Amino acid sequence: MQGKKKVIDALNKLLAGELAAMDQYFIHSEMYDDWGLTKLYERIAHEFDDEKGHAKAIISRILFLEGTPDLVTRDPIHVGKDVPEMLRNDLNTEYSVAKNLKAVIKLCEDEQDYQTREMLRKQLEDTEEDHAYWLEKQLGLIDKIGLKNYQQSQM
Ligand SMILES: [Fe+2]
Ligand SMILES: [Fe+2]
Repeated sequence: MQGKKKVIDALNKLLAGELAAMDQYFIHSEMYDDWGLTKLYERIAHEFDDEKGHAKAIISRILFLEGTPDLVTRDPIHVGKDVPEMLRNDLNTEYSVAKNLKAVIKLCEDEQDYQTREMLRKQLEDTEEDHAYWLEKQLGLIDKIGLKNYQQSQM
């Protein structure tokens, strides 16, 4: 089905964000694994899979709309040096993805592309209520119990 160019272009912009989130979670999960922070590794490796799922859904929607998915363009990634910085960078990535999703959901509404909107609404739910919320909780725990105790709990 021929989709609107505006919607396809916006989906490609979102795709650049999902690919970057994937890369960032990939490198962060490998760093946690290397440091022996196995619980953080497992959780962040799972986020990597979620972002891959988001990218896959956007790619298949672009193809369905007869557009060309852009797998080359990626938003910049922000690799942290330590656990709090990694969690904070990931949270900022989730906030920026949420902001972009909301703008494209609104565009889909204006263009009456309700199926694309529904797919993105689901991604917004994952982004706000799962990914960002979990990261906010980790940063809150570090504040409450201290970094040393937090890291010990993630081994
Ligand atoms: Fe995502
Ligand atoms: Fe996410």
